[in-house]
Order: sequence, then C-alpha cells, then structure tokens
Amino acid sequence: MDLLITPATDDAVALTARFIIDKISHTPDAVLGLATGRTMQPLYAQLVAHYNAGAVDFSSVRTFNLDEYIGVPADNENSYRYYMNTHLFSKININPAHTYLPNGMARDPADESAAYEAHIRAAGGIDLQLLGLGSNGHIGFNEPLSSFRSRTRETILAEATITQNGALFKNGDTMPTRVLTMGIGTIMEAKKIVMLVTGKSKAAILAQMLEGPLTAMVPASILHFHPDVVVVCDEDAATELDVDIRAQRRRAWEREARWAPYR
Ligand code: GLP
Repeated sequence: MDLLITPATDDAVALTARFIIDKISHTPDAVLGLATGRTMQPLYAQLVAHYNAGAVDFSSVRTFNLDEYIGVPADNENSYRYYMNTHLFSKININPAHTYLPNGMARDPADESAAYEAHIRAAGGIDLQLLGLGSNGHIGFNEPLSSFRSRTRETILAEATITQNGALFKNGDTMPTRVLTMGIGTIMEAKKIVMLVTGKSKAAILAQMLEGPLTAMVPASILHFHPDVVVVCDEDAATELDVDIRAQRRRAWEREARWAPYR
C-alpha cells in the first residue's frame, strides 16, 4: 500500500484527480469505479475543470458507482444517480449510457445485484476504483461485519452511517436504511484502488484502518490485501497516525522522484 500525505486538502484532491486523468490518458476506454459523498465533490469539480481545459476526454470511459439507496428514484436529488449526474456526468463528454449505478428502484434487488456484477464483468472489470472512507470504516456501503468476500447486494445501513449521511437528505425526505452496494469482494477485484480521505473527522478511522488489525469491524482494513492501492490523505486526516509513519509518508510525497510529476 502506498500512503501519501499532502499538506492541504486541495493537494490531496488534485493528486487523486491526476491518477484518474493519467489512467484515462493511457487507457481511453478505462472502466472507472466511482464513489459519492462530500469528499468527492471537490474531486469531481477538478475533473470537470480538467475536462474544460481540454486535458481529458471521457467519450470512451465507462463508470460503475459503488452504491445507491433503495427506493430513491434517479430524478430525486437525494439519489446517488442524481449526485453523479449533477457533479460529473452532465458536465463532461461521457456517454450517459456508459454510466452505471445500481438501480435502487429495481423490483428485485437480488436480480439487480446479479445484473450489476454481470455488467462489470462484461466491461472487463474495473481498471481504477475510487474509494472514500465512511466514519465507521465502511467502503461503498459495506458496513462493519460485511463479509470480505461479499458481492453486490442489498444491505442495511449502520446507525453511524444514518447519522453521517442523514444530514445530507434534502426536501424533508427520510434517509432510507436499505441500499444496494458493490461487495467487498467486488471492490477487491479492481485492478487499482485509489482512496481519498480528507478532514479531521476521518483521522481516527483512518488510523484504525491503516494501523489497526485486519478486522471485519473496519471493512476498509481489507485494503492491505490489495496489491495496488494508493491512499491519499491530507494533514488533517493524518493527525492520528503513528508519528514515524506520518513523517516518512510526508517525505515520500515531498521528495520521491516517482511523485514529482504530481506535485
Ligand atoms: C458514503 C458512501 C461512500 C463514501 C463514504 C464517505 O456513505 N456510501 O461511498 O465514500 O460514505 O462519505 P463522505 O465523503 O461524505 O465522508
């Protein structure tokens, strides 16, 4: 695992955007796994800015999002489909037919989950999976105790997630407690994973994920088993990490030649 600690949030976001743009430059028909949440909003704004500057072409890219709320239609502003359309898809030249999210309105969540897995397989798998980190260590909506081998499925949200995301629900809508999410096994099959973690509120869980035991109580701890993961965080999110690790990973970002093109 590579951990990079950047001085400011903007640097962490810019670096993550560079990883995505580099992937598309080398592989114009790349398959991207995308995430939602507050952390990703400035990242999508950066991707849009790069697109507007002519630095990236999304016309052959395909995307698969991690998760969606059950019972929230695509045109409801609380759905993740709406989030993605608003923050990214409507602002770039991606073919809307090539943007996939689990359908939270599907009649049969099990059928929808199986179909989602089949779509990912048919696309050749995910080249680069973007991840955020939930305040309880979830990835996608894989809550604590999710099986490390889980696949795309219907699941029930943890209280911590309802607290974390409930505040974001608009128009007086109540946040659903059921969701569709890619499984941890699905996520772990991505060829490369880039996780972006910013802000003081994530410092404790980031330390648990990186330095604590591998445990189903912190689903993101499984990332130590993935052969190609980069975790990008800002100083605020790094505050509870081991002092030596912090100094070393900050130096890596400041001095290692391989990161020079990104600074
Ligand atoms: C949400 C999403 C995750 C996201 C995470 C962090 O609930 N399901 O995909 O990465 O929690 O969210 P935020 O960036 O708002 O802290």
